[in-house]
Amino acid sequence: MPTLPGQLTPAPRLLLGPGPSDAHPRVLAAMTTPLLGHLDPQFLELMAETQSMLREVFQTKNPLTFPISATGTAGMEACLVNLIEPGDVAVVCTMGYFGNRMVDIANRCGAQLTVLEAPWGESFDLQRIRETLRAVRPKVLGIVHAETSTGAQQDISQLGRLCHEFNTLLVTDCVTSLGCTPVKLDEWEVDAAFSCSQKGLSCPPGLAPLSFSPRAVDALKARKTKVRSWYLDLTSIMNYWGGERSYHHTAPITMVYAIREGLRIVLEEGLEARWARHVRNHRALKAGLEAMGLTYTAAPHCQLPQLNAVRIPDGVDDVASRKKLLQEFGIEIGGGLGDFKGKVWRIGIMGHNSRPSCVLQVLAALESVLLSAGVKLTAGAGVAAAEEVYATAA
Ligand SMILES: Cc1ncc(COP(=O)(O)O)c(C=O)c1O
Repeated sequence: MPTLPGQLTPAPRLLLGPGPSDAHPRVLAAMTTPLLGHLDPQFLELMAETQSMLREVFQTKNPLTFPISATGTAGMEACLVNLIEPGDVAVVCTMGYFGNRMVDIANRCGAQLTVLEAPWGESFDLQRIRETLRAVRPKVLGIVHAETSTGAQQDISQLGRLCHEFNTLLVTDCVTSLGCTPVKLDEWEVDAAFSCSQKGLSCPPGLAPLSFSPRAVDALKARKTKVRSWYLDLTSIMNYWGGERSYHHTAPITMVYAIREGLRIVLEEGLEARWARHVRNHRALKAGLEAMGLTYTAAPHCQLPQLNAVRIPDGVDDVASRKKLLQEFGIEIGGGLGDFKGKVWRIGIMGHNSRPSCVLQVLAALESVLLSAGVKLTAGAGVAAAEEVYATAA
């Protein structure tokens, strides 16, 4: 027999990229709980608790709220494949890589699609969306709330109301916003939203929280054709996560333990306090990065606190620098995607990782990497600027 691979002992890492972020230690502990059967009454109780906490975190009363057993992209696909029938008119607004993914999926669903584009790093103006809604009258409008490829935030607080003036369903990608910045589905009249487990909720990747408004459920029930995905067909999954609890697929028990604990942690802290914590740590990180001469790719009016995308200084090697950060400091940050590949670094301070020790560590490590790449900067300037923010912001 060939030699067995060694025992699993990866070097420790601090995950400060676009995700996954580090799981909270309490989440990892919950994941060591022995398995239950997926139809065990005890597990059904845990499912109900998870759904109820998820509603709270999504700020909704939507009965159809549960985690899809797959990553964020499956949440995106579930929303679109359930709400779009071939030939349905749809609009997708894209301002980065994940908006483009939504375009691709909507096309595969057979939508008659209009794509609205904003420059990378920008967000959409509501007036522009209003004009498109008036001209196109779509059944569905899809948009990304927190565009992880650019670090830009889309204000969606008035968008649901606007969509409803035109009888359009609003689908929002909350993969990078949930658990980090405000997401208020009912107040904002969002019809379908999805997220992930590995960012603001501080769990491993593997679940995609999803929520459908009663309006979206009506649209689902009014379909003339079967949903074109078996696994993501909400008309059947809803019988497992809904009242009947009849078998659909074997739930990933351990991941449900994880998200249940992740949601408990979010609600223990409180949503307002959590959002404020993300802003405070972002301010410190931003002050530090700017003190080292780095500039943000997202326009100032729409910068996300949890995902800080900055331009790589001229002459600095992207891959070599990130390798040094990883090997010498054990810190992972993200490179650019799509148009930003090789030009941008993405620093995520999400969920459990939105804390001063992470901010100060990444600033100190980046300084060392930049200095060794020949960038001229004042030693200690980044950390000092961040400390100043912490000293003044309560
Ligand atoms: C905004 C956004 N949408 C969708 C996704 C896809 O999620 P996943 O990689 O969990 O499938 C990501 C992943 O980072 C994302 O940032």
